[in-house]
This record gives sequence, C-alpha cells and structure tokens, in this order.
Amino acid sequence: MENFDVVVIGSGPGGYIAAIRAAQLGKKVALVEKYPTLGGTCLNVGCIPSKALLDSSEHYHNAVHRFQAHGIKIPPPELDFAQMIARKAKVVEDNCRGVEMLMKKNKITVLHGVGSFASPHQVRVEGQGDSQIVEAAHVIIATGSKPSSIPGVDIDKKRIITSTEALSLKEVPHTLLVIGGGVIGMELGTVYARLGSRVQVIEYTDTLIGAFDRALGKELQKVSRKLGMEFFLSHKVLQAAYSNVDKVQVKALDPQGQEVTFEGDYCLVAVGRRPYTQGLNLEAAGLSLDEKGFVPVDEECRTKVPHIWAIGDVVRGAMLAHKAEEEGVAVAERIAGQKPHIHYPLIPNVVYTWPEVASVGYSEEQLKAQGRAYRSGQFPFMASGRARASMDTEGFVKVLADAQSDEILGVHIIGPRAADLIGEAALAMEFKAAAEDIGRICHAHPTFSEALKEASLAASGLGALNM
Ligand code: FAD
Ligand code: NAI
Repeated sequence: MENFDVVVIGSGPGGYIAAIRAAQLGKKVALVEKYPTLGGTCLNVGCIPSKALLDSSEHYHNAVHRFQAHGIKIPPPELDFAQMIARKAKVVEDNCRGVEMLMKKNKITVLHGVGSFASPHQVRVEGQGDSQIVEAAHVIIATGSKPSSIPGVDIDKKRIITSTEALSLKEVPHTLLVIGGGVIGMELGTVYARLGSRVQVIEYTDTLIGAFDRALGKELQKVSRKLGMEFFLSHKVLQAAYSNVDKVQVKALDPQGQEVTFEGDYCLVAVGRRPYTQGLNLEAAGLSLDEKGFVPVDEECRTKVPHIWAIGDVVRGAMLAHKAEEEGVAVAERIAGQKPHIHYPLIPNVVYTWPEVASVGYSEEQLKAQGRAYRSGQFPFMASGRARASMDTEGFVKVLADAQSDEILGVHIIGPRAADLIGEAALAMEFKAAAEDIGRICHAHPTFSEALKEASLAASGLGALNM
C-alpha cells in the first residue's frame, strides 16, 4: 500500500490547488478524481464553459446590435451555434489539460476513481475495474457540489435541465424558462437572450441576484430587460412538467397567490447547489454531515478528526471557485505547519453578465442591519469618458465608507469590466484603506477605474470631480 503525506479527494479548484501548494511545500501528494478529466465543476461544467459562452454570445450580440453604431457595416451575422458550443468544449479541454500538466510538473500522483474512506487514514480508490487503497497522513475532502432542485420539479436533463445541460444544448431554445434569478439564471439566461431566445425568469424572492447589494439587482433587471429578458419576481414555483414531448410547463403562484402557467421548450432549474459527498463513506473516518449536508469544519477547514480537512463547495460559505482555492492553499500551508489566514468578508462576488456585476464587503442592507453609520458615494458610468467612448454607459460604482473613520466597508459595481475593477477595491479594503485614499490615488485617464476613484471621492465627502 502506497503512503502519501496528503491525499486530496476531488480535483476542482479547491482540490487541485491544495495539491499543488502541498507539493510545493515538499509533501508527497495524491489527487483522487472520479471523472476522466481534472478541474471539477469549475473547469468542466461551471466557471470556464459559462464564461466561454458568455463571451461568444456577447460577440454575436454586438455584431447584430452594436457594430452599426460604431460605423461597421456587415451582412446580417449568422449564428453557428454548433461552432459556439464546439469552441467552448475546446476551451474546457485546454484548461483541463493544463491542470494535468500542472500535476505532472509538481509530481502529484493522479488516481482516477471514486475516493472513499476505508478508515480514518486510508482512502480507497475505486476505478473502472480496479481498486486500490492508499495510506494518508492527511486527507483533504474537496468533493464540491451538484445542482439542487425544488419539490415538484423533476430534472430529467433533457428539457428540464440544470446548468450542465444548458452549457451543451444542441439548439437555441425558442423560449427558455429559468427557475431562479440568481447567478446561474442571470448568466445563462443572458447567453440565450443574446442568441435570440425568449427568456422568462421566475424568481421566488422580490429581487434578482439576492446575495448582492439590492441596488445591483435592480439595475441588472433594468439593463437585462433591454435584452428582452422577462422577469417574474415574488413567484413561487409549484411544478415543472412536460405538457408535450417538446414543451415544458412551469406553474407558479404570483404575488397575489394566483396560479400562473409559463410554457417554454426548455426549463433551466437554477435554484442553488448542494454539497456533494455521495460515496465518500465518511462514517469509516468517524465523520458525519451537518443538517444541510455540508462537511462540518472549523474556521481553519479542519473536521473533528484532526488530520482530515474539507474545503470549497462541500463546506460552509460562498460556493465560489476562488474561495475554494484560498481554502486549498490555506489547508496545505496549515498541514506544513504554517499559519495562514483567510479574510472571508473580503471574498469578491461577480456575475459575468454585461454590464458585469461585482461586489466586495458589506452591502447597504447589511450595514443598516448592523446599525453602522456609513456614507455612500455613487458614480454613474454615464459620466465616464471611457464608458462613453466604448458605449458602455449603463451602471454605476457605489462605495460605502464608515461615517467616522472613512474606512471602506463595501464596494458594489455594475458596469463595464466590473469583474476586474473589483480587484482594486478588494486590495484597498485588505489594507483598510479609507475612501479618501482611493480618491487621492492617481488613476489613468480615460479608464473605467476612474469611476471607482470618483465614487470614493463622493463617499469620503470630498466630492466627485466629474459629476
Ligand atoms: P468542484 O469544482 O465541484 O470539484 C469537485 C470534484 O470532486 C469534482 O471533479 C468531482 O468529480 C470530484 N469528486 C466528488 N466526489 C468524489 C469522490 N468520492 N472521489 C473522487 N472524486 C470526487 N465560481 C466562481 O468563482 N466564478 C464563476 O464564474 C463561476 N461560475 C460557475 C458557473 C456555473 C454554471 C456553475 C455550476 C458554477 C460556477 N461557479 C463559479 C462555482 C464554482 O464552479 C465552484 O464554486 C467550484 O467549482 C467549487 O470548487 P470545489 O473544488 O469545491 O469543487
Ligand atoms: P443562487 O443561490 O445564486 O440563486 C438561486 C435563486 O433561486 C435564488 O435567487 C432563489 O431565491 C431562487 N429560488 C429558490 N427556490 C426557488 C423557487 N422555488 N422558485 C423560484 N426561485 C427560487 O444559485 P444558482 O444561480 O443556482 O447558482 C449556484 C451557485 O453557483 C451560486 O450561488 C454561486 O455560488 C455559484 N455560481 C457562481 C457564479 C459566479 O461566481 N459568477 C456563476 C454561477 C454559479
């Protein structure tokens, strides 16, 4: 039986990054993955393929709707959806191969098969037709998550689908019903709206992307309507079922309690994800799950069995690739005797629609609930020269700062390149910057980042210059 210092179960962004960091720190590492390709949800059916389709569909949309205004005349563009899906598949393939190469470079042993505990220090790897047991001084559980559903909705993966199937459809739906106006609903809804689908989003709460500051959800709804997307907020879905071989009906209760019916040719169920632990045989390690199905861990990602750790979507906290990665690095460093720290409140959150949505720190609603005195400064992209030059004038930057100390407490952006702009805000907040600090830093002109400077000046009380 082969011995390892660290055995990681699951090769998503949590697992493969943990494996690399542990190997860099001199540990002998094995990575166990049940699928033939490495990279987990993120690379195979999550972040990467969804961004590939978002980018392709944005190009198509711009060619159809925006080139003319820029003075570019082309024959009406024709959609080659099969090629769009094939390009996405190639992007995924290249990324997965990249992870394979990283494993080789770092001398990590990759074991393909389902990992399960044979005992607290032994992991069984059940491959196709072979089975082996490896001994581990430390085990890191990084088995991720799967899409969840709601009562009355049976996902058959044909026309009542999850994000996984929505990333590989054979045709553009005429009408796509989306249950859930969260991150997946908005990103994949946007893809198909740009490609010409009628997209109807049915959301239980009274806001889109509920994890964000409410102002962002409101603005996203406004700009997404221009794409033709239709929103049915405060609607409780009761059932999704086939009304015909190629038609799906969704029944829901509207805000008045009346039953309403939607009909489409596909229904995307995007109501959240649940931790995935099937087949791990946690009992053999002396572990059990919490009431929501997560592997319970302390703030250092340690389970109640000291040499077994768990990270990423399978534990509490945001289900985000970069959160999983940070936990992977931190756990590998803890195993090597170091004392890393993750500042959870400063994990950024992004929606890759266009305009993009990005956020870090506290929302206005959270600050109000805390009873904290704050100042808010806002700058619209309409007033940005860079945004006018590129015709990206929708959205704004909102900076929230402590009323007394001026420390930045939250930054909320909807606008062009918000996903990249939020990095500056996260950096500033990590160093406890005041709004005035960002306001007084020289930002290149003309850039979208000037909007962050201007909103910071407004929040600090100095006042925006270009508004
Ligand atoms: P996963 O990536 O889920 O990986 C877990 C791995 O473990 C899988 O490969 C699985 O096969 C394997 N596994 C499970 N059980 C076993 C076992 N017993 N034995 C062996 N292997 C096992 N996050 C972002 O930050 N940005 C985004 O833009 C983004 N976009 C997304 C888009 C979509 C459509 C979806 C669905 C998710 C998106 N996410 C995004 C979320 C992101 O994908 C997850 O947060 C991230 O993948 C979690 O990483 P993980 O390592 O915890 O688990
Ligand atoms: P989500 O939690 O973002 O949104 C789910 C939505 O479904 C919520 O708005 C919720 O109110 C709604 N809902 C729940 N039950 C409902 C019902 N019965 N009827 C109508 N609506 C209902 O979850 P989503 O979009 O499925 O994504 C899962 C996770 O994947 C995200 O939380 C995020 O962590 C991750 N992800 C991250 C991305 C990114 O970082 N850009 C992109 C895609 C996914």
